Amino acid sequence: MEEKTTNSNELESVKQYAIMNNLKFIFDQEFEKTGKRKTYHIETFGCQMNTRDSEKIAGILTQIGYVEIESEDADFILYNTCTVRENANNRVYGRLGYLGRLKLQHPGMIIALCGCMMQEPTVVEKIKKSYRFVDIIFGTHNIFKLAELLQTRIESKRMVIDLWQNTDMIVENLPNERKFSFKAGVNIMYGCNNFCSYCIVPYVRGRERSRNPKDILGEIKELAQTGVVEIMLLGQNVNSYGKNLETPMTFAELLIEVEKINGIERIRFMTSHPKDLSDDLIEVMKNSKKICKHLHLPIQSGSTRLLQLMNRHYTKESYLALVDKLKAAIPDISLTTDIIVGFPGETEEDLQDTIDVVRKVGFDSSFTYIYSRRTGTPAAAMEDQVEPAVISERFERLLKECQSTTAKSAGVDVHSTQKVLVEEINPQDTTMVSGRLSNNLLVHFKGEADLIGKIVNVYLDESKGFYYMGSLV
Ligand code: SAH
Ligand code: SF4
Ligand code: F3S
Repeated sequence: MEEKTTNSNELESVKQYAIMNNLKFIFDQEFEKTGKRKTYHIETFGCQMNTRDSEKIAGILTQIGYVEIESEDADFILYNTCTVRENANNRVYGRLGYLGRLKLQHPGMIIALCGCMMQEPTVVEKIKKSYRFVDIIFGTHNIFKLAELLQTRIESKRMVIDLWQNTDMIVENLPNERKFSFKAGVNIMYGCNNFCSYCIVPYVRGRERSRNPKDILGEIKELAQTGVVEIMLLGQNVNSYGKNLETPMTFAELLIEVEKINGIERIRFMTSHPKDLSDDLIEVMKNSKKICKHLHLPIQSGSTRLLQLMNRHYTKESYLALVDKLKAAIPDISLTTDIIVGFPGETEEDLQDTIDVVRKVGFDSSFTYIYSRRTGTPAAAMEDQVEPAVISERFERLLKECQSTTAKSAGVDVHSTQKVLVEEINPQDTTMVSGRLSNNLLVHFKGEADLIGKIVNVYLDESKGFYYMGSLV
């Protein structure tokens, strides 16, 4: 892998636009001959970072002249992959076999792979050996180069592989094909510096880089002008935003600026690392009219001993104290979390600590994961890996515990009127629409398509545990 250190991002976007226009010219000529536009399809695995990256990729492909289709039988098919847990990788290999067969019936099909999994050299070796039909492989640092890689592929007819180990480059002003017209994810930082001992993300996403506040605010203003009302600020650890900027700025300070943007009515963010959550941020959330009263605050484990081995830099007690502080400042705050079961050396006592925290905090929802051994992480080399059978039994018990706390905290807003951002026609019943409350819970109520993208008042008639049934006020 090449180590890239350049920072010439403006030149880069000019160069990429030139390549896109060149390809567009060729594609337009083909269209005139055949009357058919070339098609693309993207499958996105993993987290919101990947979802956002896929919008950028779709932007580049649209600019070139491709049109999106639902089916995988497209002229250009791309898998944007995730490698946070082993099962994410297995899903990709499983589907690659199918793509290979599809390509046999679809001459000229281009198959591209990108995302976190491609940043692992062993994965790329395996693809080179066993999946020769793949056309383009790139990683998480050079998405902006897709048009260039495609051009190389068209010209050379060989497998094109371009992977960077790290970068300090942030290329702005590239095309974008946003999935929704009313809500949008906005990257505020890339990469991660935390090296939690189980986690592969810092190795595949590189070092932490914050985007310039000017670029972030400019993007949000533009989005607001096109009708976006809800913004999700994205980063692996948003609470450490701005530390490496030329003029440092805190996440709380950035939020104050985002709040001022006319047209934006709701602000969300993900993810918050408990170790960096500042009093200033709590104060800003408390006084804000736009920041949603929801915090995703992954705990990973309730055992101080394991937290230390995980390199998380907080304890059971300090996490609980933080939760108390949050609840005191913002009484109706909704808290959600991530928990890992089966970290090396985990004992029954450690699990009991986690269950204790789950009970004490009363999370509105918890994402529980079975520990997955990721090659190259410190935890993978730890000696006392827990037996799979023991992990499953613990996982089931923890899941029950989490479900019962969720059930207890669910439904507290029933019989009140709440603001709801309407997102879609209900897929099960087309006379209804579905939307989200400030705390992220879903509500379904009678309504029509013209409500989509609007924030309306809805009376919550009935709680169904994970969602509400309501009526438009
Ligand atoms: N940056 C975020 C999390 C990103 S990964 C944060 O620090 O909170 C999302 C979740 O995947 C993590 O919170 C963790 O619970 C889980 N995860 C990460 N690595 C894992 C592994 N090796 N095995 C199981 N779960 C893992
Ligand atoms: Fe992974 Fe930890 Fe970084 Fe989150 S903060 S991405 S869990 S290393
Ligand atoms: Fe997966 Fe990469 Fe996100 S590994 S969870 S897609 S940062």
